[in-house]
Amino acid sequence: MKIGLCGFGVVGRGVYEIIQKRHDMQVTKVLCLEDIQLPDAQAVKDFNDILNDPEIDTVVEAMGGLHPSFEFASAALKAGKNLVTSNKALVCTFYDELVPLAARMGVKLRCTAAVGGGIGWLSELERSRRVQKIQQVGGIMNGTCNYILDNMTRKGSDYMETLRQAQKLGYAEANPATDVEGIDTWHKVILSSNIAFGISLEKESVPVAGISRITAADVENFRAHGRVCKLISTGKRTEQGFSAYVQPTLVDEGTPEAAVPLNYNLITFVGETSDRMSFFGQGAGRYPTAYNVVQDLVDVLSGKGFYAPYGAPQQADNSETLRYYVRGSWAGEVTEHWGDAVITAPVAVSDIHAWLKENPEAFLAAIAE
Ligand code: HSE
Repeated sequence: MKIGLCGFGVVGRGVYEIIQKRHDMQVTKVLCLEDIQLPDAQAVKDFNDILNDPEIDTVVEAMGGLHPSFEFASAALKAGKNLVTSNKALVCTFYDELVPLAARMGVKLRCTAAVGGGIGWLSELERSRRVQKIQQVGGIMNGTCNYILDNMTRKGSDYMETLRQAQKLGYAEANPATDVEGIDTWHKVILSSNIAFGISLEKESVPVAGISRITAADVENFRAHGRVCKLISTGKRTEQGFSAYVQPTLVDEGTPEAAVPLNYNLITFVGETSDRMSFFGQGAGRYPTAYNVVQDLVDVLSGKGFYAPYGAPQQADNSETLRYYVRGSWAGEVTEHWGDAVITAPVAVSDIHAWLKENPEAFLAAIAE
């Protein structure tokens, strides 16, 4: 396998280093805008040098962002090259273009590192769905948010200070709002649901609430009631079809989610035969992420393509009702007061997220049952 590697940052360099030790694949060209010298690969500044190289059969996209990643990815597939990427924003946003395009061209598309970094989550969903119906996916999918919430809970750390540490440690996205407003988790749960259920979720029907307005006083309220706040994603089958959402959630102190430390992820599926299966590990970082990119390359070599057949677009139905902790001008029914916040009566997930859009200064967290 001859590889054109696009991007030589955190992930790209890790992929290059791991492949250097292998005999079944070789990086022959690296697209990098900086001047770099490599002993065994040609550094290029124009993607066409990779696209038009007939020797290169597989492109690894490790640049991040949507553009020009999408243009490069689709051009590679159209040229009959396999594509491996760790870019969840890319595959989630352009799911309806890239997955059918790869199928049409008869080439392989894989993106295991896009959800859970080093965790073999998507590849396990692929295996699981061969044998059983998956009922639910989700969990803690963003290391930056978990790092902030864990530090605020266990050490009483300040939100901003902890976010800066997460940036320094390289966990956060280039724009950390993507992490703390839940967008990164939103991309990951949509991609996971699409693969688990064989559908293509309408993205605007999946609501997202982040953690950026949480305060130390909120964390104290949670502690006083035996709860821990985590950013939790949910995608599941319902009687109406499918529901999917991302929101801060107050889990019980005794749950596995409550115990997840630092920047770790804990992602779970529930299958009709296997019941609950959870995957704990490093959701980011150079070598964990590069590890799964190389796993995908090995899978491509053995003939594996995308994880699930492309499925029809589906609206998420979020009429399920939950109780919420709300700090803000909530005018609906209230059952309890926690400090200066309230606990609502059960309210539809879709309704409270619509309310949050109108009240963006508020903070909310679902009470896990
Ligand atoms: N910013 C992401 C995180 C990186 O914190 O989990 C991995 O997707």
